[in-house]
Amino acid sequence: MKVLLTGGAGYIGSHTAVELMTSGYDVVIADNLSNSCKEAISRIEELGGNKVSFYDIDVCCKMEMEKLFSEQDIGACIHFAGLKSVPESTSMPLSYYRNNLDATLTLLETMQEFGVKKLVFSSSATVYGVPKSVPVNEDADTWCTNPYGWTKYMSEQIMRDAAKADESLSIILLRYFNPIGAHESGRIGEDPQGKPNNLMPYISQVAVGRRDKLYVYGDDYATPDGTGVRDYIHVVDLAKGHIAALEYAEKNPGCIAVNLGTGLGYSVLDIVKTFERANDIRVPYEIAPRRPGDVDTLYSDPSRAEKLLGWKAEKNLEDMCRDTWNWQKHNPKGYRE
Ligand code: NAD
Ligand code: WQD
Repeated sequence: MKVLLTGGAGYIGSHTAVELMTSGYDVVIADNLSNSCKEAISRIEELGGNKVSFYDIDVCCKMEMEKLFSEQDIGACIHFAGLKSVPESTSMPLSYYRNNLDATLTLLETMQEFGVKKLVFSSSATVYGVPKSVPVNEDADTWCTNPYGWTKYMSEQIMRDAAKADESLSIILLRYFNPIGAHESGRIGEDPQGKPNNLMPYISQVAVGRRDKLYVYGDDYATPDGTGVRDYIHVVDLAKGHIAALEYAEKNPGCIAVNLGTGLGYSVLDIVKTFERANDIRVPYEIAPRRPGDVDTLYSDPSRAEKLLGWKAEKNLEDMCRDTWNWQKHNPKGYRE
């Protein structure tokens, strides 16, 4: 089957492309390279052992999307394309709503036109906002604290409504927790432009000497060591979750949300210490003020993914830290070497 990956040149999309290809799927990628680069496509082909049909297009452009669908016999779509920086979304909310919602609508309309019925969507644990309790399961209240989060919340709602109106549609809303790590080859990985917002790319850029030290945002949270606790998941486990979701979508029409996490919570200092131990490298850090909008603790109840998709995360925190460093040390400037 041919699977269209919007945003497939990005961090999670590139890892998913490789897993799909090694599982026998044909991969088509539509990406405007706004937060990725062409080199990722060559490396996906290298690891996947096959060619990718790559379209350098904006997913919001209906004409380009129609051209792609008329040239390729798409059986299912995975929708990664979107802008993803929480702070940027607060300063440029209109760009975030325009890009992320337009991309969702254009994809759904084109799928409808061409009779494509299966879709997996990159949603986020951000839709849980400030959770009432942890672990968080999919029935927990949803509410967002920033425009990026609202684009996920609204895209989910659009998809639920589309699936209600067309009972043959099958849509899986995957709510990712905190994806980190890289392919164990070190050939693909996370390559943020500018200063990273997220913890793990910041740590690996400190380790490789691109930044002086890590700023730990707050040590007075109600957690065992005072620093924020999250559910970090290896990006290759996450990628495999998409294949399990596609298989589920084959047999089950409707629209359902599924958490992809490990169910374990680790603090910022747990991550720093594990990274140092796993890689035998020092990560200098300094305690800094809390980052506005951060919650104390957020981790998943991943039991629905195991029950419905037969998927469970397999890699541990050491694997995540080791594979991140393997990617970073071999690609100190990311793909731009
Ligand atoms: P990424 O930025 O590496 O990948 C997104 C890709 O989409 C990029 O390659 C970018 O060029 C492309 N893109 C953006 N807008 C586009 C458009 N209009 N047309 C075509 N291509 C476009 O991000 P990622 O970390 O791989 O995330 C993938 C998806 O998962 C995103 O939707 C993100 O919001 C979601 N998500 C990410 C995380 C995370 O922590 N990385 C967590 C939860 C959800
Ligand atoms: C993790 C922990 C920080 C950076 C974000 C999005 C979420 C989802 C995943 C897309 C927190 C601390 C961080 C640093 C630090 N993305 N930290 N110093 O905030 O859980 O989730 O990415 O959907 O929507 O909000 O991830 O990696 O930014 O932070 O101390 O330089 O690390 O305070 O406790 P977060 P993160």
